[in-house]
Amino acid sequence: MSVALVTGAAGGLGAAVAARLAQDRPVLLTDVDEAGVAEVAAKLAAGGATVAHTACDVRDRASVQSAFEAAGGLGLGEVDAVANVAGVGMFVPFTEVTEEQWDRTFAVNTRGTFLTCQELVRRRAGRPGAVVNIASIGARLGMEMLADYGPSKAAVIELTHVVARVGAPTGLRANTVMPGLIWTDMWRKTSEWLIANDPAHVDSTPEQLFAGFVGAMVPMGRPQTPEDIAETVAFLLSDRAANITGQTVSVDGGVVMT
Ligand SMILES: NC(=O)c1ccc[n+]([C@@H]2O[C@H](COP(=O)([O-])OP(=O)(O)OC[C@H]3O[C@@H](n4cnc5c(N)ncnc54)[C@H](O)[C@@H]3O)[C@@H](O)[C@H]2O)c1
Repeated sequence: MSVALVTGAAGGLGAAVAARLAQDRPVLLTDVDEAGVAEVAAKLAAGGATVAHTACDVRDRASVQSAFEAAGGLGLGEVDAVANVAGVGMFVPFTEVTEEQWDRTFAVNTRGTFLTCQELVRRRAGRPGAVVNIASIGARLGMEMLADYGPSKAAVIELTHVVARVGAPTGLRANTVMPGLIWTDMWRKTSEWLIANDPAHVDSTPEQLFAGFVGAMVPMGRPQTPEDIAETVAFLLSDRAANITGQTVSVDGGVVMT
């Protein structure tokens, strides 16, 4: 049976993607946060899912290679589908982005996605497969506070086009999902940072601040849930999407209309 590998599976979105994919197939949950991913995997296993977990730092080729190897060793089988969910991002004013911050963001979001895609393509060696890379609406909005994050995710979209072209002749598909605004650790930390650093937000709670962004940005007026995104990832990795490759799908309540 088809086996999926999920990166960033300890996070808000990654855990939901792993849970949704596990309804259809065995799943290897990976994350740099080893304790966190073990906890998510244990919950899914307790619910009857066929899952395993392993530590994986997507910035590091050897770590990515051993995660793919682990799927066989842990009894799942060969990985033929990947959901690249691992990512980092914070609001930082354009003039304050350092080289270190730029490199850190690109190392996880862009190099990490490149390394897992390359590993999948090499291992499938001319056989079918599927990958979904998680970008962000921040790739398309030119937001001043996302000067490193936005470009790192825009690069993911073009990387996905490359993988789609490389894989197309042998049925290996690659698509991007662009989530909108989801209340996870990433937005909680961003809201807390804004409250601490921007006098305009000093009287808000993190939840109120997030709701304000949703109200100002999302035409449908509501945030997205991890489950909204997971459903689209599951569709794009499945045979129901057998003729879809090289596409970018926004799941964002209408923020970016493509
Ligand atoms: N939350 C949102 O509104 C939103 C919107 C658009 C896109 N996204 C994207 O969705 C993805 C998931 O974000 P989230 O909201 O669940 O955030 P999150 O912080 O809850 O999860 C991110 C996960 O990535 C893991 N990670 C970080 N560095 C890693 C590394 N080097 N190797 C492996 N794993 C690593 C973290 O440990 C964490 O578990 C990210 O790619 C993010 O950019 C999120």
